[in-house]
Amino acid sequence: MKDLKAKIAELKKKFNSVSARVKDEKSLQEVRNTYLSRKRGELNLLFEEMNALKPEKKSQAGQMINSLKSYIQERLEKLKKEIAVKERPVRKIDLTLPGEKGYCGAPHPVVLFQQEIEEIFLSMGFSIEEGPEVETDYYNFEALNFPPHHPARDDWDTLYITDDLLLRTHTSPVQIRAMEKRKPPIRIIVPGRVYRRETSDPTHLPMFYQVEGLVVDEGITFANLKGTLERFIKTLFYEKIKIRFRPSFFPFTEPSAEVDIECIVCGGEDEKCRICGGSGWKEILGSGMVDPQVLKNVNIDPEKYSGFAFGLGVDRTAMFAYQIPDMRYFYENDLRFIRQFALK
Ligand code: DAH
Repeated sequence: MKDLKAKIAELKKKFNSVSARVKDEKSLQEVRNTYLSRKRGELNLLFEEMNALKPEKKSQAGQMINSLKSYIQERLEKLKKEIAVKERPVRKIDLTLPGEKGYCGAPHPVVLFQQEIEEIFLSMGFSIEEGPEVETDYYNFEALNFPPHHPARDDWDTLYITDDLLLRTHTSPVQIRAMEKRKPPIRIIVPGRVYRRETSDPTHLPMFYQVEGLVVDEGITFANLKGTLERFIKTLFYEKIKIRFRPSFFPFTEPSAEVDIECIVCGGEDEKCRICGGSGWKEILGSGMVDPQVLKNVNIDPEKYSGFAFGLGVDRTAMFAYQIPDMRYFYENDLRFIRQFALK
């Protein structure tokens, strides 16, 4: 028995020194085999010796050997974890590599252009109004003086939802909504999306943006319309830009005018200019004096009040300003296109 005790102490000492030198999986496995192998492991040899002892000594011997066994097992387990940590692959960082660029979003060019327009009108004392994109026939047409079945409706290729509901074809219905809500003086602009039954091509889309304008007060004249729009266009483009008012027709204005600006690409010098078709002019908006019938429709007395209105195509004007050859680029979500307009 004394012998066995000494052997156990000896073995523990030996194990401690051997295990202290373990540095990898392989040497760990060797130590495990030496001590714990079922066939020739040192501990098994001790158990065999124990079996030769007298029964009364066996249990004490068994306890001693088992406690050495758990000591060895625990120690090996700990070593295994330490090795696993040591051998974990290290992520090497190459500090000379360029960093990963995060993508930072940018405002859409049409939105940017719309904001420029808004700022000019805000500086002139206009406020911004909004209206629904799904409209009724009444606001989109009838209240704007398009009677049912009137041929003028044909100029607005309309996407109907029901007989009475439609996707607004212009921002003009918000004129009616604004005048129903409040009495003059009114001075608003209405930016927003409009829809038409169109097949996309370089200059047409089934969805695009407009900015509507409306001024109603006592004594408003065509001179106010002309002065306001000229000031706006000169600020948006440049001071010396040539502007032309051309007689036109809209059911909701009388008289009506379309406004052209000189072609900023060829200045009228190029007969084959792709932007103006050689005319030297580009139409950007429709306008006019609010038809007295429209005022009557919203219970504003046309004897006392008068007003002017206008509607500007945002996308087509942006196309012209930025010299973009195809309107569809705006909505193809091609980042190479969009990023060119990112704020620097
Ligand atoms: N709503 C017209 C369009 O979509 C544009 C327009 C013309 C608006 C004359 C107006 C206006 O307010 O007075 O073509």
